[in-house]
Amino acid sequence: MSVCSHYALRFSIASSTSPFNNGGTRLSGWGRRRRTQFGARRSSQMGFLMRSSNGYPLIGVSLKDEVLSDKQPMGGLESVDSTVSITVVGASGDLARKKIFPALFALFYDNFLPEHFTVFGYARRKLTDEELREMISKTLTCRIDESENCGDKMEQFLQRCFYQSGQYNSEEDFSELDRKLKEKEAGKLPNRLFYLSIPPNIFVDVVRSASRSASSPTGWTRFIVEKPFGRDSESSAELTRCLKKYLSEDQIFRIDHYLGKELVENLSVLRFSNLVFEPLWSRNYIRNVQLIFSEDFGTEGRGGYFDNYGIIRDIMQNHLLQILALFAMETPVSLDAEDIRNEKVKVLRSMRALQLDDVVVGQYKGHTKGGKSYPAYIDDPTVPKGSLTPTFAAAALFIDNARWDGVPFLMKAGKALHTRRAEIRVQFRHVPGNLYKRTFGTDLDKATNELVIHVQPNEAIYLKINNKVPGLSMRLDRSNLNLLYSERYPREIPDAYERLLLDAIEGEHRLFIRSDELDAAWALFTPLLKELENRKVAPELYPYGSRGPVGAHYLAAKYNVRWGDLSSDGT
Ligand code: BG6
Repeated sequence: MSVCSHYALRFSIASSTSPFNNGGTRLSGWGRRRRTQFGARRSSQMGFLMRSSNGYPLIGVSLKDEVLSDKQPMGGLESVDSTVSITVVGASGDLARKKIFPALFALFYDNFLPEHFTVFGYARRKLTDEELREMISKTLTCRIDESENCGDKMEQFLQRCFYQSGQYNSEEDFSELDRKLKEKEAGKLPNRLFYLSIPPNIFVDVVRSASRSASSPTGWTRFIVEKPFGRDSESSAELTRCLKKYLSEDQIFRIDHYLGKELVENLSVLRFSNLVFEPLWSRNYIRNVQLIFSEDFGTEGRGGYFDNYGIIRDIMQNHLLQILALFAMETPVSLDAEDIRNEKVKVLRSMRALQLDDVVVGQYKGHTKGGKSYPAYIDDPTVPKGSLTPTFAAAALFIDNARWDGVPFLMKAGKALHTRRAEIRVQFRHVPGNLYKRTFGTDLDKATNELVIHVQPNEAIYLKINNKVPGLSMRLDRSNLNLLYSERYPREIPDAYERLLLDAIEGEHRLFIRSDELDAAWALFTPLLKELENRKVAPELYPYGSRGPVGAHYLAAKYNVRWGDLSSDGT
């Protein structure tokens, strides 16, 4: 049964448009001119202006915020006191405890949250406010380099956290939340953000109940939705259709936390603000691009979720594809969310749907090393016996447009591999008629430039160049021009969730996935996923902690590519 026909039967949904105020999307001009986020206030006293993630001055939600209601004209708005309530639905889950509450605290600690804000946890478990505080206090941490008054700050933050227990499909329970929110909002203009940190089968229940019973009557109401956004084109379209019964696109913030990572954010800066990169960014100079994700641990306890999705849906269709789209897009008209997302969609729609021949799938098997045993994927008690779900995949993708015609974009993603890393590798072409080719021997591939963007860990950007070894003889070697973040910027890098939460509060959609982007992403992967499942393709087994299936090397070799992460110099 479809995602929301199920709900439609029980609740007879009538309206096709949201009766509620929209997400308060930032309209060009408005956002840039109007907000006085207190971070911005603070920094303007310091002589510079704090900027949101698209480089515009932060449009805040502070005490003296100016909020655009549906009926107000663009000009001459009154200043009103406003408040933001952030409700984490699924508050006792792993993601909420490990990522969302700590990110909110980090924003509070760094004075990025508005002056008037409250955080609500919502879940089925019966907890008191104190018990919620006790639970989340265990995962809050202070910034390494600025932990002054951390204890006090933590206490202040926890005093703003409250709990409401309720069923996910109960409008009455959300009405109760609404009542408590109103109490805290104390007559200020209320803005409400819901973070859905819950399994996908209850997304629609929550959105229906929360939007009907706990939307802000006068301010904005927004929903952050976590992946998975469906399992294929059909289920994703159905989910979008259901969400849009209650919400407008502007109210939906589909999160892909990889877009909030510092080095992914930096991709566009690197390319569009340095003359030396943009002219090279095409098939004329780039031989191939590699997008690599690897984790050195298995599904450990998440097998139940993972088995229904597999690595292609879990990592490739979203995190790696999003990076690819940002990497390959044409120069957007501006840094506005719609301009950027328009360009990303064009890339995705120019891509060829994946072919089975261009994909290798793997699954980790048990392995013993140094006297320690590592389990196979199918040893996970939450994974069905005999599961064929891939925990590793490598794929070759192509963008059939003028810029990228014929350039392989190779993706590789795997769990239980030898290392944890995420990186982008750009391998350039040979220097035509290279004067020094004799000194390289026959393997010219070893002498091409490579730009490496180390997304994590040890954030870095380096460019592999050929260099003369000092001395009287003419000997060349490969060296790195290296920008190691920990040396250049000795401060902690914010977690991706901090940036994304702040953007959602700001109404900035740039780093969130629009529904047509999502459709285009699924269109690329759905035929392949169906074929893998229909044909019951058996994944190639690889030992836990290894470099993955050997098939990945053959796939790369088919396109005359070597995986850069497995190069002999190890960089
Ligand atoms: C999630 C996946 O989206 O990203 C997980 O569902 C994966 O399987 C995680 O472990 C990786 O995120 P990060 O930020 O730790 O690299």
